[in-house]
Amino acid sequence: MAGRIPQQFIDDLLNRVDIVEIIDSRVPLKKKGKEYSACCPFHNEKTPSFTVSQNKQFYHCFGCKANGSAIGFLMEYEHLSFPDAIEELARSQGIDVPYEGGQRPDPEAKKAQTDLYDLMQETDQFYQKQLRQDALSEQAVNYLKERGLSGEVAKIFGIGFAPDGWDNLLKALGTTPEREKALVTAGMLIQKDNGKCYDRFRDRIMFPIRDRRGRCIAFGGRILPKEQPNDKDAKYLNSPETPLFHKGRELYGLYEARQALRDIPRLMVVEGYMDVVALAQFEVRYAVATLGTATTPDHLQRLFQLTSEVVFCFDGDRAGKEAAWRALQTCLPEMRDGRETRFMFLPDGEDPDSYIRKIGKEAFELEIKQSQSFSEYLFKQLTDEADISGIGGRAKLVETARPMLSQMPQGVYRTLMFEQLAKLGRIELPESQLTAAARTPRKQKRSRQSSDTTKISMSPVRKAITYLLHQPNIAKSWYETGRDTDVLKTLDLPGMDLLLEALEILRINPDLSTSALIERWRESPSGNHLAKLASEQPELDDLEIEFIAVMDGLIKKSVDLRYDDLQAKLDQRKLSESEMVEYKMLLQQLYVAKSASKPD
Ligand code: UTP
Ligand code: MN
Repeated sequence: MAGRIPQQFIDDLLNRVDIVEIIDSRVPLKKKGKEYSACCPFHNEKTPSFTVSQNKQFYHCFGCKANGSAIGFLMEYEHLSFPDAIEELARSQGIDVPYEGGQRPDPEAKKAQTDLYDLMQETDQFYQKQLRQDALSEQAVNYLKERGLSGEVAKIFGIGFAPDGWDNLLKALGTTPEREKALVTAGMLIQKDNGKCYDRFRDRIMFPIRDRRGRCIAFGGRILPKEQPNDKDAKYLNSPETPLFHKGRELYGLYEARQALRDIPRLMVVEGYMDVVALAQFEVRYAVATLGTATTPDHLQRLFQLTSEVVFCFDGDRAGKEAAWRALQTCLPEMRDGRETRFMFLPDGEDPDSYIRKIGKEAFELEIKQSQSFSEYLFKQLTDEADISGIGGRAKLVETARPMLSQMPQGVYRTLMFEQLAKLGRIELPESQLTAAARTPRKQKRSRQSSDTTKISMSPVRKAITYLLHQPNIAKSWYETGRDTDVLKTLDLPGMDLLLEALEILRINPDLSTSALIERWRESPSGNHLAKLASEQPELDDLEIEFIAVMDGLIKKSVDLRYDDLQAKLDQRKLSESEMVEYKMLLQQLYVAKSASKPD
């Protein structure tokens, strides 16, 4: 297929990179015996169950069962596609990815995207420079000072200035038709019907929005206070959705929070750019802002990957309360044990920026601590709505809460919530009855997963695959014994196809690591199964000897069966010439095997 990345390249690349290094630079690892470990970046936990094996070049979490190669890690952790993860690994090694047929499937798009990142970086630098240099930026600088921002914080957030005028950016960066077009794609220029372009952001303070790798992908621009304000000009203008920017996924300030804090105690979701920056000015470095949207499940997942506590900060007004209730709904499926969400409501007319200026960091953080927890807020809200002194109100409470709580993942937290509901509703039902109404798909998937990993007796084929996955180089020793692998093809056992496939891959590429071997099944459902086997720990001293013993057992079984088969045919005089030859060979093999195992 044209555009594919050659398997050989993937093998070599996985051979070249060190998964420990790749992961450690993103999730700091501690050495523990032969392996490395950390708290799992894919689920929230307090004690590390995420392990990385240098030997196998494979990561595995005992808690959430996430596992894979360096490629798989980047795909999961950085939300990259398979080819992009390979590109990223190759880049870290300073090599180019070859594509069969010479080209990546959509090389233009790829190149264009790289260019967009570069252009956005140039744009970012351009605006920052305008703030420092342009005589016209005096008003902007004064405004930022008036709002109490230090140069230091402005620098951390890369705050810039888009001068007034229709073509400042266009002239500075849109120097070729291609670049002009790319700036339109990036949302920085707007193209008129006549094809002419102009700057989207004019006379605005610019807040660059960074992705998780710190690349500038979009901007928010705040208008400067005007003597004659124009109603048509929105206070804040945001970049539109572009190939780089999806506002439902990005959070303003998240990159900066990660840079500032090694351990993130909590993340606080606020509404505005200035709130994030002002909080940082007061050394509250864990604030992030959604970009003119409600908090999405994507946002929440991203937040909980980094911390166990998410605090939502809302205006105390009606709109704030509605937004809070929506946020709570989004949180339900994410409320696993060990996670907490809080809901903080500000006094009327305050936003986090104005409020922290008024009361200071300490009092602000105290209010966070005293804010309503998930359960407090949920039950308070529901009991405010229904008069639970009467049966009707209690019924309403239970009916409203039940489908909500059912969205929570299985666990202690959920059980306690149901208990609380039963108490408030004054009903004595076990949780099982309260939850009977709705079962979440997530929960079903999880319980299936865990029963999968409970002991299944190890068939010889499964054993052989497991050993091979743990120590792929035993295939070399296997082939050196000169034993006949082909005879196994006649053995119709579950997993035999996989075993033979793995052996064949290793015959041709004897030096593959565990993860490179498993990568071969990325597109196939067997991949998961193999990864699971690779995560198991065979407690054996010499896998090589064990492997050969298990294989010998399988060969004997297949020889026996085939022999019986041919014998039956012979009895009916139905053996073809080639089968006759096979029969004689098997006879000989059986004879050799028997004499070898005969005690003398
Ligand atoms: P606010 O109007 O509360 O602004 O909008 P703010 O953050 O307090 O800003 P300052 O303090 O006046 O500078 C909150 C957020 O809503 C979005 C922006 O993301 C803003 O940060 N917003 C607001 C817009 O997108 N467009 C607007 O016109 C206004
Ligand atoms: Mn404000």
